[in-house]
Amino acid sequence: MNAIIKPAVVTPVVAAAPLDRLGRPLRDLRVSVIETCNFRCPYCMPAESHPDEPLFGRINRLDFAQIEMAVRAFVALGVRKLRLTGGEPLLRRDLPQLVHQLAQIPGIEDLALTTNGSLLAAQAQALRDAGLRRLTVSLDTLNPQRFSLMTGGRGRVEDVLAGIAAAERAGLTRLKINAVVQRGLNDGDVLDLAAHFRGSEHVVRFIEYMDVGTCNGWRRENVVPSAQVRDVIAARWPLRALEPNYRGEVARRYAYADGQGEIGFISSVSAPFCGDCHRARLSADGKLYTCLFADQGHDLRPWLHDESALAQHLHGLWSARADRYSELRGAAASGRHIEMYVIGG
Ligand code: GTP
Ligand code: 5AD
Ligand code: SF4
Ligand code: SF4
Repeated sequence: MNAIIKPAVVTPVVAAAPLDRLGRPLRDLRVSVIETCNFRCPYCMPAESHPDEPLFGRINRLDFAQIEMAVRAFVALGVRKLRLTGGEPLLRRDLPQLVHQLAQIPGIEDLALTTNGSLLAAQAQALRDAGLRRLTVSLDTLNPQRFSLMTGGRGRVEDVLAGIAAAERAGLTRLKINAVVQRGLNDGDVLDLAAHFRGSEHVVRFIEYMDVGTCNGWRRENVVPSAQVRDVIAARWPLRALEPNYRGEVARRYAYADGQGEIGFISSVSAPFCGDCHRARLSADGKLYTCLFADQGHDLRPWLHDESALAQHLHGLWSARADRYSELRGAAASGRHIEMYVIGG
């Protein structure tokens, strides 16, 4: 009797979506497309330690095909939300082409980008046409002098506002506006920021100043706890707490009681949210960081020629993850962290 010999089937299947050691699935991926920036915000990339181009040795950036392969492998493990970051992502040549490639990937339900907005006026329409769905713009103050100071003398607030206007014209709705609040610097500007966007569909989120990176000389005294910012705003315009949009949302949401829109608070210092952290970060040179405060990344390049091998490898890395830096802050601080502009926040 002839046995039926079945051809060996190589199944490149990765076991079901992994959980990390704290039981957290992998849902969001943040991809940094470039490690440099045209601003020099002192809390991220101070001008004294980061002189102008050429930057501290060119890094070897992933090309678009490699980024696409990486994203596909992450999708196989459960990623549904994708955010492009920098440095300043709009400095990456042909960014709309990359957006177009990534927007086609089955399984990507949300494609967003975080930018400083300075180059947005010229690119908003192309990004929207390429398939970008959501946009976050960093804007710490509307005061021109302080804006200049807070961008290391590189930024002009009117360019960012022009970028926001262009995004609106291009049909990018409900932008998020990120404002990092520092005591003694721009904490007096929060009402102006809130007032400017009140009554619009955009959502300002006030972010607690964090001890990311190694070069910003972070001091806890300079952190303004979100509760304080919220009290200042609520004293002027009463607020009503809203439910999160999704599990693990970083910002706490509030609505103006008079129906004039929404604001949010990102409180990673006063109220850490590691328990629901489903985020992985990929640097422009192809390293995986499993926490914003990681001191080193995992180089994915050796796997970037084979999507299923990469997915297997990522499965192992995610399964081994135990990061919860913000919950341990102080106790666990190693002192060495990757810089914010390398992994885009
Ligand atoms: P949405 O999808 O719109 O909810 O985006 P998001 O709020 O996750 O993205 P965004 O890039 O706007 O993040 C805002 C800021 O929150 C970041 O720049 C960081 O400062 C902070 N943040 C985001 N994710 C984390 C995180 O995992 N840990 C910590 N400590 N801070 C984070
Ligand atoms: N603390 C908090 N937020 C920061 N960002 C950059 N550096 C810090 C920091 N030290 C923010 C930027 C931007 C986002 C990507 O991260 O303002 O909105
Ligand atoms: Fe550039 Fe954003 Fe860092 Fe400012 S916070 S230096 S805009 S990457
Ligand atoms: Fe996630 Fe690390 Fe931020 Fe905690 S500190 S929420 S583990 S990125």
